[in-house]
Amino acid sequence: MAVASKRNLVRAAARARLGAVATYSNFKVGAALLTDGGTIISGANVESASYGLTCCAERVALFTALTAGHKNFEAIAIVAAAPRGPMPCGACRQLLAEYAPNAQVWIADSRHLATIRSFTVKKLLPGAFLAVP
Ligand code: THU
Repeated sequence: MAVASKRNLVRAAARARLGAVATYSNFKVGAALLTDGGTIISGANVESASYGLTCCAERVALFTALTAGHKNFEAIAIVAAAPRGPMPCGACRQLLAEYAPNAQVWIADSRHLATIRSFTVKKLLPGAFLAVP
């Protein structure tokens, strides 16, 4: 993946982060998915007074993309004001393993967007449960 498109996706995640509804934690996260057709679909975390109902930025972006009919994803960028950027939680890793198994995962601190750490979904959740046998 070209450096320019990596930076572009990280910037899209940073923009999406501004829409976070992080009423309780004030920890704002943005995510942006890149489809195989080059479309970018983004999302941000939304929190609930019933804390466990909170939905992470990654899943908001993924559910938005899937319900718009997108199926193949090349990458996801995730941005928050965290040292070295936010690592996705276990629930999001599971959903990414199911719906974006071949995606690159690009992570950045919103205060230093030029420093991007790269992973793969496969590396973040090896041996994922994928279907009822
Ligand atoms: N959060 C995300 O949106 N993505 C992550 O990768 C880590 C955590 C959200 C969930 C919650 O709204 C807040 O960050 C604090 O955990």
